[in-house]
Amino acid sequence: MSTANKQQVAKEVAGKAAADLIEQGMLVGLGSGSTSFCFISSLIERCAQGLKITAVSTSKKSMEQAKAGNIPIVDINSISHIDVAVDGADEIDKKKRMIKGGGGALLREKIVAGMSQEMIVIVDESKIVDELGKFPLPIEICSFGYNATSHHLKELGYEGKWRKTEDEKFYLTENNNYIFDINFPHSLKNPEIVNQQIKNVPGVIETGFFFNLAGRVVIGYSNGDVQIHS
Ligand code: 5RP
Repeated sequence: MSTANKQQVAKEVAGKAAADLIEQGMLVGLGSGSTSFCFISSLIERCAQGLKITAVSTSKKSMEQAKAGNIPIVDINSISHIDVAVDGADEIDKKKRMIKGGGGALLREKIVAGMSQEMIVIVDESKIVDELGKFPLPIEICSFGYNATSHHLKELGYEGKWRKTEDEKFYLTENNNYIFDINFPHSLKNPEIVNQQIKNVPGVIETGFFFNLAGRVVIGYSNGDVQIHS
């Protein structure tokens, strides 16, 4: 089996295991990305078998998938809390600190995770790291004055690239902001300090660091095994 196929198996088993944790009547936050896609697919299957839930989504793509599978979507402004959010990650360490936003949905993902009683993280084994920082850190940045913002980040020692579309236009988030992907020269001993420095820069809307948000972590393996860490 190719590496991509093995990773796909790992994502599917993690997604299915997380879908099995969803209980009758729950309000579920739907994450974004390929592992979340697997989760939503399994959740749709459970709903077809009688599970009744409602959901909020962190992206249009996840919302469309859920709606096509007859999962009722509620307006985020009509609710005050979410029972459980289920979402992927680009990196997660032993303290459950994460880098997210590879798919560009970091701001909505953080809002939804922050409203949730629990965030269940679903990853394949490749996402587990000793230290964060190999995966470029996505930063959501206001388009107004974006050059000044990246200049300020550079002065702090944070270099990176504007995320672009295939035709070299600025990638726009669903909130109409830009994404700057920071490349760290080495892994991070103190990501909390880095996060605070970046968040202090005017124009930075949100970072892809997710701290103190993850609850259970569901890890899928390419041999079909799944581990759930509390
Ligand atoms: C999207 C995200 C995703 O959860 C993250 O990029 C992981 O994606 P995938 O499951 O495709 O590996 O944060 O903004």
